Amino acid sequence: MTSHHITADQAAGPRGVIVTGGGTGIGRATARAFAEQGDRVLVVGRTPAALDATAEGHDGIRVLAADIAEPDAPDRVVDTALRAFGRIDVLINNAVAHGYRRLADTDRELLDEQWGTNLRAPVLLTRSALGALEAGGGTVVNVSSSGARGERAWPENGLYGAAKAALDFLTRTWAVELAPRGIQVVGIAPGVTDTRSGPRLGMTEQAYDGFLTQLADRTPAGRVGTPDEIAWWICQLTRPEARHATGVVLPVDGGLSLT
Ligand SMILES: NC(=O)c1ccc[n+]([C@@H]2O[C@H](COP(=O)([O-])OP(=O)(O)OC[C@H]3O[C@@H](n4cnc5c(N)ncnc54)[C@H](OP(=O)(O)O)[C@@H]3O)[C@@H](O)[C@H]2O)c1
Repeated sequence: MTSHHITADQAAGPRGVIVTGGGTGIGRATARAFAEQGDRVLVVGRTPAALDATAEGHDGIRVLAADIAEPDAPDRVVDTALRAFGRIDVLINNAVAHGYRRLADTDRELLDEQWGTNLRAPVLLTRSALGALEAGGGTVVNVSSSGARGERAWPENGLYGAAKAALDFLTRTWAVELAPRGIQVVGIAPGVTDTRSGPRLGMTEQAYDGFLTQLADRTPAGRVGTPDEIAWWICQLTRPEARHATGVVLPVDGGLSLT
């Protein structure tokens, strides 16, 4: 496990931020939001071209092509961030494997893919980053989903929802475990957010737009979310003024999960 200590001089400088799944959607918007406020960001994903597109025009963004589900990935990600920035202040567990499937069609391979990326990877990456996060009094942000809140069910998306419900439990648990070490742990639970992820997963643009319209109609606020507004909330949750809110999982969903 990597451990690192920063000096008082460094504490005043730009923060070091890691965003997994930073080549698209909410991860891209979040990486840019941190970079635009002067922080330095390492974006991680499996597609170099997407990571490069995130970094384009943003001097503060570095990229690392890696599959976070691979056994050596957690230490590689942490070591790369420490080499680039000398510190890690914020870790954003955002990458996700999508995989709609009902139980009858679920197999071991899907379980490995879903929980390997959505659950095991955040656990191991956060563990690898603990020493560096402790050195600077850092923050872990687990990106969950408002669809997994409360006593809900999610037909055909059970493995994803179960991973997010588990992540929320870990957010609360780690908040308690790590508070004495000066590490804050929070979650954010977006509602449906227009990241154009549907077409990337094989939906037509028209079908994705239809899905967004249907969900906007079901949302009390009358619209779906944008990646930029989720990114804004993630930035706020990592501000020094927000530190006492450790353990919260903040829904940002226009009220969808309340209906
Ligand atoms: N969009 C929504 O409506 C919505 C709603 C609720 C919650 N969320 C949550 O918000 C987060 C971001 O969602 P999004 O819609 O922005 O997703 P997205 O656009 O599909 O982005 C997911 C990212 O994760 C990366 N990724 C997937 N598997 C990976 C792996 N094994 N190693 C490294 N990177 C990996 C993907 O890049 P590569 O494929 O190139 O690796 C991709 O850039 C997720 O945690 C999601 O569950 C989204």
